[in-house]
Amino acid sequence: MPSLLPRLWYPIFLSPMLGVVTPKMVAGVSEGGGLGGLPLGGLSREKAHQLITETKKLTNKIFAVNLFTNAEPDLDKNQEAIDKMRIFISEILVQKKWAGNLDFEYHFYSYPDLIDLIIEEGVQAVSFTFGMLNEASVRKLKAHNISLIGTATCAEEARLIESSGADMIVAQGIEAGGHRATFVDGELPQIKLIPLLNEITKTVKIPVVAAGGIYDESTMNAAFQAGAKGVQIGSYFIPAKESLASDTYRKILKGSTENSTTLTKSFSGRWARGIKNEFIKMTEGMDVPDYPIQNILTREMRNLAKSHNDYEYTSLWAGQNAGFAKTGTTSQIMDELIHIYKTIKH
Ligand SMILES: Cc1cc2nc3c(=O)[nH]c(=O)nc-3n(C[C@H](O)[C@H](O)[C@H](O)COP(=O)(O)O)c2cc1C
Repeated sequence: MPSLLPRLWYPIFLSPMLGVVTPKMVAGVSEGGGLGGLPLGGLSREKAHQLITETKKLTNKIFAVNLFTNAEPDLDKNQEAIDKMRIFISEILVQKKWAGNLDFEYHFYSYPDLIDLIIEEGVQAVSFTFGMLNEASVRKLKAHNISLIGTATCAEEARLIESSGADMIVAQGIEAGGHRATFVDGELPQIKLIPLLNEITKTVKIPVVAAGGIYDESTMNAAFQAGAKGVQIGSYFIPAKESLASDTYRKILKGSTENSTTLTKSFSGRWARGIKNEFIKMTEGMDVPDYPIQNILTREMRNLAKSHNDYEYTSLWAGQNAGFAKTGTTSQIMDELIHIYKTIKH
C-alpha cells in the first residue's frame, strides 16, 4: 500500500473537529497540499454520506474521514447518575426560563455502520479517536488500501494502535483542544506534546503526527525536532471563514489566554479541553454519566444556550494556544502554515 505522507505536498493535517470543520475547510487544506480531516464521529450514515459527497465535489485530493471508536457505556451502571443529572439540568433550564425537552433516550450511531460507506465512496484515509477500530473494520479498510490513523495520548495506546495494524499515530498532547483520545483504563494521561512525542517515537515504528497547541514556527519546529513526521492543527483553524463556529465562539477564543481552558467531563462524560465556564464550575465534584450519555443529556441545554447566545452553558472546545488563532479563509491559514513549514525545513 502506498504510504500516506509521501502522497501529500506538506505533512500538515487539519484536525477533524466535529461541530466546527466543514467540507469547505477539508477541501481547503487538501487542495493546499495537506490532509483535510472530515469529522464523522457519532453521525448517521445519511449525514456522513452527505458530508463525504459534498467534500468530494470540492476536491479530488486525498482527505481523511474521522470516526469515534469509543466503547458503549453500561446504562444500568449509569442510571443513578442519569437521574440526578436530568434533575440538575432541568433546574438550570427553569432558572434560565428556557423551555426544553429533557426526555432521555439513549442512541449513538456507532462507527461500524460507516465502514462500507467509506469504502464505497473511495475515501483513502480514516482517522479514529477514543479507542481502536475492531479487527473486522481494519481488515476491510486495509483490503481497500485505506490508510488508518489512530490517536494516542500515551505510549501504551500508541503501541496498541500500531499492533492493530494502523499506518500512523496522531500523538495528542495535553495542550490539545477538544476531547482526549484516551482509551486505556486508569488515570487520564496528561502528557505534554514534546515528552509524549519523545515516548511514542521510541515505542512505535510507524510515523507519528503531533497534535496539541501547534500554530507557529516555534511550536511546529519543536514537534518536528521531537521526531514528528507531521503536524495536526485544530484550534488555529476554528475562526476560519468557512468554519461552523459562531461569532461569539470566535470572540471568546480571540480573548482567551493560556489559562482560559480546562479539562472537563461536564458536557459529554469524556475528558475534553474547553474554555472555562459556569456549567463546568457547577458540575465540579458531581457524578457525571459516562460518554456519550452525558453528551445526550446536555444536548438540549447546549442548543438552548447557543440559541440564547449564552455561552456559560455550552461547550467551547479550545486548545491552550487557541488565543493565537487568526481569521481568514482556510486557504489563507493553510498558506501561512505552509510558509512556516518551509521556513523550518530549509
Ligand atoms: C473544536 C474541536 C473539536 C474537535 N473534534 C474532534 C473530532 O471530532 N475528532 C478528533 O479526532 N479530534 C477532535 N478534536 C481534537 C483534534 O483532533 C486535535 O487533537 C486538536 O485540535 C489539537 O490541538 P489544537 O486544537 O491545540 O491544535 C477536536 C478539537 C477541537 C478544538
